[in-house]
Amino acid sequence: NWTTHSVVEEQVAAIRAQVGTKRAICGLSGGVDSAVAAALVQKAIGDQLTCVYVDHGLMRKGESEQVEKDFVAATGVQLKVVEAEERFLNALAGVSDPEQKRKIIGREFIRVFEQAQAELVAEAGAEGEEVAFLVQGTLYPDIVESGGGTGTANIKSHHNVGGLPDDIEFELVEPLRQLFKDEVRMVGTELGLPDEIVHRQPFPGPGLGIRIVGEVTKDRLDLLREADAIAREELTAAGLDREIWQCPVVLLADVRSVGVQGDGRTYGHPIVLRPVSSEDAMTADWTRMPYEVLARISTRITNEVADVNRVVLDVTSKPPGTIEWE
Ligand code: XMP
Repeated sequence: NWTTHSVVEEQVAAIRAQVGTKRAICGLSGGVDSAVAAALVQKAIGDQLTCVYVDHGLMRKGESEQVEKDFVAATGVQLKVVEAEERFLNALAGVSDPEQKRKIIGREFIRVFEQAQAELVAEAGAEGEEVAFLVQGTLYPDIVESGGGTGTANIKSHHNVGGLPDDIEFELVEPLRQLFKDEVRMVGTELGLPDEIVHRQPFPGPGLGIRIVGEVTKDRLDLLREADAIAREELTAAGLDREIWQCPVVLLADVRSVGVQGDGRTYGHPIVLRPVSSEDAMTADWTRMPYEVLARISTRITNEVADVNRVVLDVTSKPPGTIEWE
């Protein structure tokens, strides 16, 4: 008998039993899962929790501001922001393989959390105040697709499951690990989180790092951020946010094609639009979006984003395609 109320009660009790009087930190990604996990843990242990937002430079436009303002406003949670763009980009330099990217990002997240933990302990200045717990918004599908956290991914290593390093020093608190996304949203609403947070479209922890097919560089990220912002703006303007599960915007960084703009030949990169409809992200279908909206997005991206001369639509369901390209 699944009710959001009983899930919340059960998890609050379990979290209290696990954490006791110690401190915990929770990584916030800007997504629904980590927000709901944080709110749940906050309900259980109050200000024994500190949220950590890692700005790894792989975020979309406006994402950092949203976490820093909206989430804190909604929950009153204690937030520590860590600027880590250089660190992540250095670690990702020269890497094109998707699983390797995911492992590197997962590892760097943990290293940043460990550092944040040490700083928090130092700030608190109290013995016994150790932050031994790391809260993650891991869902049931993340675990299944990462091969049950065994380290061998069935499909792909979600950054907070198969992407974790072996020498992790934290004990994990994962209050959502039995839930699907729609259930997580109901729990979020039960906890009083606003719709703008609860009904956000999913965005992966590794961020735009797994939406650049090829090496991840600052220039490519900036380009993709622009294209992504245009697509999101037009989807929102067309009122499609709730209809579409999510719409990854992908940069094929190693591909170039010939085009013509003004009186000149161009040789630029393609951007892929991947709008999908889904119930739980385990399976998905490509969304039959209105042509006018697609046309507007395409025109704007090719006009406004330098070095992009082609926009293509991904019409593959899952399976056989996954939602993200990497
Ligand atoms: P795939 O690409 O596996 O994606 O069909 C399923 C859902 O999971 C999201 N996703 C992730 N979320 N960390 C996350 O927090 C990850 O490493 C990760 N990989 C994929 C994806 O956006 C989709 O909603």
